[in-house]
Amino acid sequence: MTPATPNRVEHQLTDKGYVPVYTTAVVEQPWASYSQADHDVWKALFARQQQILVGRASDEFLRQQRAMGMTPDRIPRFDELNKVLRAATGWELIGVEGLLPELTFFEHLANRRFPVTWWIRKPEQLDYLSEPDLFHDLFGHVPLLMNPVFADYMAAYGRGGVKAHAIGPEALVNLTRLYWYTVEFGLIKQDDGLRIYGSGIVSSKGESIHCLESAAPNRIGFDLERIMRTRYRIDTYQKTYFVIESYEQLMDATRPDFTPIYARLAQQESIPAGSVLDTDTVFNRGTGEGWLNDGDV
Ligand code: PHE
Ligand code: FE
Repeated sequence: MTPATPNRVEHQLTDKGYVPVYTTAVVEQPWASYSQADHDVWKALFARQQQILVGRASDEFLRQQRAMGMTPDRIPRFDELNKVLRAATGWELIGVEGLLPELTFFEHLANRRFPVTWWIRKPEQLDYLSEPDLFHDLFGHVPLLMNPVFADYMAAYGRGGVKAHAIGPEALVNLTRLYWYTVEFGLIKQDDGLRIYGSGIVSSKGESIHCLESAAPNRIGFDLERIMRTRYRIDTYQKTYFVIESYEQLMDATRPDFTPIYARLAQQESIPAGSVLDTDTVFNRGTGEGWLNDGDV
């Protein structure tokens, strides 16, 4: 839509070029001002992903998505979803303009508030967008917040983020990798095969298929410290996906205090996004087809 405030994120020229200056404003979802084109984008993306995700997204993701009552006909109202979400796990959605400063984001999560970008992409951006929009945030992240174990994991992550922020930038890098390889790009092993639970995947048509069906990427068993050392891609499909056995495994593995882990990891090299180690539990050793050599972050 055409936002009331055209520049959600201001850009400022620094010695690193233009950098975004984030706004921390929590905003009321301007639901009445979405255009028909905005609702149509939601409808098109929702219908497309719903088809693709049958047999690909985790059973729990699909079940909770239905339970939330999100439908394709119109962009959901945060206040309506919040009634369901609060009752299920005590989480609530808050509207934001876009990416938040890290500490602000962590504090929201720690208090069970999930920031959702209120604006939706344009019709010509159905396949790719470089920053999160309403479709990614709402369709991708929110269904699993209905699951009590995953809901606790996200809040614990927020508290862990506040702590890591105080420890320093290296700790934050380690923690961000964990978020990336679980919340955004995680796979889960069901009795009937691997499934997607990561929101960055479920909101992407191409990656929903690639992550499960392509021979190119590695698919490796979840290993906390290994993940915290592993670099990742922000501009291409992931070279490696990590597979959890259950949401309880995620919760249990991340329950210990990370402070000594951060100290230990500070002594170790990071791992390239596409590496396979002898200690890995390998579901698929990627062929590496189509990989770019540089660009891991
Ligand atoms: N246990 C972690 C810590 O002490 C916090 C955390 C929990 C981080 C869950 C990520 C996920 O920092
Ligand atoms: Fe996300």
